[in-house]
Amino acid sequence: MKLTFRGARVSAGPPLFLCFAASLAFTTGCGDQGAGASDDAALAQRVIESFAETERMQAHVQLLTPSQREEHEASVSVLRDKIPNGYPEPLLPTGALGVANGDFRLARAPFLSAPLIALGQSLFSETRLSFSHEKGFASDFSCATCHPTRGAFVDGKKLSRGVDGASTRRNTPTLFNVAYNSTLTWANRVFPVLEMQAKIPLFGNDPVEMGLRGKEADVMAILRADRGYRALLSAAYGLKSDEQIDALGADYTYITTALAAYQRSLIRFDTKFDRFLLGSAREDERFDALETRGLRLFYGFDALASGTNLPCAQCHSGYLLSDSFRYVRDGKAFSAQAFHNTGLYNVDGRGAYPLGNTGFATADELKRHPEWMGRFRTPPLRFVAATAPYGHDGSLPDLNAVVSHYAAGGRATLGKTGANPFTDERVKRGFVIADEESEALIAFLKTLGP
Ligand code: HEC
Ligand code: HEC
Repeated sequence: MKLTFRGARVSAGPPLFLCFAASLAFTTGCGDQGAGASDDAALAQRVIESFAETERMQAHVQLLTPSQREEHEASVSVLRDKIPNGYPEPLLPTGALGVANGDFRLARAPFLSAPLIALGQSLFSETRLSFSHEKGFASDFSCATCHPTRGAFVDGKKLSRGVDGASTRRNTPTLFNVAYNSTLTWANRVFPVLEMQAKIPLFGNDPVEMGLRGKEADVMAILRADRGYRALLSAAYGLKSDEQIDALGADYTYITTALAAYQRSLIRFDTKFDRFLLGSAREDERFDALETRGLRLFYGFDALASGTNLPCAQCHSGYLLSDSFRYVRDGKAFSAQAFHNTGLYNVDGRGAYPLGNTGFATADELKRHPEWMGRFRTPPLRFVAATAPYGHDGSLPDLNAVVSHYAAGGRATLGKTGANPFTDERVKRGFVIADEESEALIAFLKTLGP
């Protein structure tokens, strides 16, 4: 057994014994206290290797054909300056990769372009895209009410309220890097496409979010009557004349297509963590000892003083810090979907989650697969410091609560009914974590942005 106290010599190879006595290690800063740039580089390399491992072990891989590649390049070029070299690019639903759905305007629209994004950006904050019973159209409500465009596109509430005051069932997720998600929302396997997802807040009634059910035809008429939108629409869809704009008629998929394009442009990899990985951090924003320690704990490179290696990066894995992702890198398309039960609830002592929030499985599926209860998508963790409260229902108020929940092997273990029997084994084990280890872990999570 070789003992090393620096990241530099351990960048390759099997699990290594970095700290033979972690408590001692913490005070001596085992890992990287006072580590130099080359130690950081080696540690960064090790994390990047874990990303490649995620691609190998967790993703379905498809080689792009030359023509798919060409199509991808053409679409992704408008996003290029937001994606660091070597990082994944979103898999855009170009014709050839085939999102089999004639419901949106791919055939006619340039798939992704600056004017299409501009239209979507305007629509995202457009209050005329909502209808309240009190105020009619043009209430003060839009996508941006729940996903404010300043900050991380979250409203900071446990649950949000729709235009008529109805509560959402789930916590509002960030929209940063949403283009990389292989499934959308906390627990849905069937809306992989942003074009389709946008219909839910616009027209859905469970709960009513923007209140436009039954007003599908009116919204396009409102936009077409507006000079500003006529200009945006014609630029976005390459329309040459007033007749062509009017010919869009009542087809709201021109709206959802643009909203999707805008959301795909919300790519952010400009975090302290990414600069650490890319070796582009300024001298004054290098990881300090606490953050380095937290990273090593999160990735399971070091064990806790109590002897456990944290499982965090087994699920919050890869470039997105989630085992659910879909992207193109190096000419290949990678995709993975994952939903897990982390033991937040056990309402009946037999593993049930609260009604209406039982996870990705339908009631029918749960009859056949009771063990699918409580499975939610692993949320990507970039910008996590800005997206409190946490969990699918916002019931974990802060990062301390998140760490306590995992330490307990799932929060349900602390309640009357005890551990949820369907909790993922990696979470169920729980762990004993010292205050300063928890502090380090949270310091690392904060480097994920903003
Ligand atoms: C009333 C508040 C509210 C409004 C208004 C709203 N959203 Fe959301 N949004 C949510 C909530 C809550 C979720 C999580 C839903 C779930 O998991 O069931 C969500 C999820 C999403 C997701 C999935 C993100 C992911 O990580 O999978 C996208 C995309 C999205 N919203 C886009 C939009 C767009 C576009 C609009 C406007 C057309 C909009 N939202 C309006 C509250 C809102
Ligand atoms: C078995 C897979 C798995 C493991 C292991 C795991 N997580 Fe999670 N994590 C999830 C899932 C799934 C959720 C969402 C659960 C829910 O809301 O029901 C989640 C939620 C979170 C959230 C809330 C994010 C948000 O946007 O609300 C944070 C923060 C988090 N995990 C951090 C961690 C840390 C730190 C560890 C290690 C101690 C860890 N996770 C281990 C799967 C996992």
